[in-house]
Amino acid sequence: MTSLICNLAGVALRNPIIMASGTFGFGREYGELYDLSILGGIASKGLTLHPRSGNTGCRVQETPSGMMNSVGLENPGVASFLENELDQLVASNTAVIANLGGANLEEYVNGAAQISEACDLRQRQGQQAVDLLELNISCPNVKEGGIQFGVDTEVARQIVREVRQVTSIPLMVKLSPNAQDIVAMAHMCEQEGADAVSLVNTFSAMKIDIYQRRSAFQNSYAGLSGPAIKPIALRMVHQVSHAVSIPVVGMGGISSVEDIVEYIMAGAEAVQIGTYNFVNLHAGEELVAGLTAWMEKEKVQSLDEIRGIV
Ligand code: DOR
Repeated sequence: MTSLICNLAGVALRNPIIMASGTFGFGREYGELYDLSILGGIASKGLTLHPRSGNTGCRVQETPSGMMNSVGLENPGVASFLENELDQLVASNTAVIANLGGANLEEYVNGAAQISEACDLRQRQGQQAVDLLELNISCPNVKEGGIQFGVDTEVARQIVREVRQVTSIPLMVKLSPNAQDIVAMAHMCEQEGADAVSLVNTFSAMKIDIYQRRSAFQNSYAGLSGPAIKPIALRMVHQVSHAVSIPVVGMGGISSVEDIVEYIMAGAEAVQIGTYNFVNLHAGEELVAGLTAWMEKEKVQSLDEIRGIV
């Protein structure tokens, strides 16, 4: 009997396929296309304590090498998420991951505390709550905070440490490929009590509008994702998962079952699907069915048989 079950920091996932933050909204639209309960989990759109309207001007561009975005963390804020989105996400009957960003340390800590308190209350009332908190220290598109947290280990340490103190929700930190040393960053997360790390967020990149003679994006740079980054992200997942003892969630350019298997063989406990959701609206259900069929064909009964074998 083939089993796709994963254990992500004590959270049981039906399978390793999680929808990445910022590519799946809060699941509402995709929920009209297929049954979300077949997924391993859903990471919410990136939240911040206060609502944000995001960046002006061009936000997304398709390029021959991948997708570029400069959304700038547009979101309705933590309170609105808790009030208007969490119930329907929980009802989708898959693991719910709240992705939390912030403009400064205080915003991260207060955002995490607010999510945590609301979830404690829900649990006391017998309601399901957020299964994992994904701390986003790696957004490349905001002036305040964002990438500057994710590239400096000591700045990031303070955020992870203080957020850890205000929540008992399993904590996963989303790492930046732009960090000077992503292995050191993952070690720091482990030392500070994070339960998992996810990597990578988008690569800081650039596109110039040659007729306007300026960057195509506000804030000069944008985040690159998609197949172009997969070999580099895979190498980073391999390095990090062999260096730390906490689970690693791999992401970057996954668009096939074979890509998922590569990430698992590199050491990932689970994976996240991002850009491919925009290319194929049925990505989630096709990849779950495809991975099950692949395992049956290859006579792999459990992902533990292949995880980290390379
Ligand atoms: O590429 C990204 N874009 N990564 C993030 O973490 C956030 C997002 C945005 O809102 O700009």
